[in-house]
Amino acid sequence: MIYLPTRVFFGAGALLKAADHILRLGVRPLLVTGRSGARRSGALDDLTVVLDRAGLAWELFEQVEENPSLETVMAGAEKLRECGCDYLIGIGGGSPMDAAKAISLAAANALGRDELYQTDKFRSSFPLVAIPTTAGTGTEVTQYSVLTNAKTGIKAGFGHDLAFPRLAVCDPRYTLSLDPIVTLNTALDALSHLLEGIYSNKRDPLLYPLIHSGAKAILYHLKPVLENPADLNGRSELLRASLYGGITIAQTSTTLQHSLGYPLTTTLGLPHGLSNAIVMRPVLDLYYPALQEELDALFAVLGLGRSEFYAWLEDLPFETSLDLSADFIEKSVGEVLGSRNMANNPFEISAGQIRDIYRGLRCLIPLL
Ligand SMILES: [Fe+2]
Repeated sequence: MIYLPTRVFFGAGALLKAADHILRLGVRPLLVTGRSGARRSGALDDLTVVLDRAGLAWELFEQVEENPSLETVMAGAEKLRECGCDYLIGIGGGSPMDAAKAISLAAANALGRDELYQTDKFRSSFPLVAIPTTAGTGTEVTQYSVLTNAKTGIKAGFGHDLAFPRLAVCDPRYTLSLDPIVTLNTALDALSHLLEGIYSNKRDPLLYPLIHSGAKAILYHLKPVLENPADLNGRSELLRASLYGGITIAQTSTTLQHSLGYPLTTTLGLPHGLSNAIVMRPVLDLYYPALQEELDALFAVLGLGRSEFYAWLEDLPFETSLDLSADFIEKSVGEVLGSRNMANNPFEISAGQIRDIYRGLRCLIPLL
């Protein structure tokens, strides 16, 4: 079963094609962004031209940090109510788009800070347009919002059909200004999503053509884009892979791989995509015996074997250096076991297996 209530516009000039649909959503949008990406990408300028020409009075909330906090969401919801906005446009990487989803739900349902994960209280949401400026998260086509509780330091998501964006506007030109480290990390987040569509106990053969095609796009285009950031065709392929990864996890959810990555982000400050990249090989090793047929079908499409896939990963411009302390590992094992994504693993994962993966990590930090 596939459910995707988001209207997707893809390709150079996608915003202009989507403009009529955007303008029909309301009269006063709240633009939700981080501090720089939306401007640097050119997406914010393009959007405000469209809104200004239509005579819409828009408001800007540009306080979303990386790994957005519950406090930021509450501040955004307050701004939406104060300004009388009637829909939202999230522009940027995963953080502004995820924050926009949570702001929409918090404001529409008058939720308090501690109610943001209480999905049984979700009755309505404001329409949301998602405009990605990175190629990795796929959140423009998912029902998930991942937030960080600054008090506990725990990163966790919620998922609800009311959080699906109404429109996704995916223009690869908005990713041309990404630096190589962000390009690398976000592409590996997308690759994680695609692999997790196979790992998940909600895997669906209907999704395999998307998964295979998305993974192939990353395999063939990531390194050329790192060498030539202006490669628009390569950027487009990476954005398509990210979109497919989002469509995939909207159906299958993420798994152990994301659960293992969250503590690396919240405790050590590693970017989300890098955290996934670090655990990609040991998770694949753990799952391979149970999913050999499905994974071999993927490798056949990629035109390489598992060891060659690992060689491709090894050859990415990361260096190895990260020493996880025993304290970190013990604290994180509990956090991983308590993570929502763990319900989607293909088989039960033990504390010992989590500990072994953390202990055995050959850690990767970008060299670029
Ligand atoms: Fe992710």
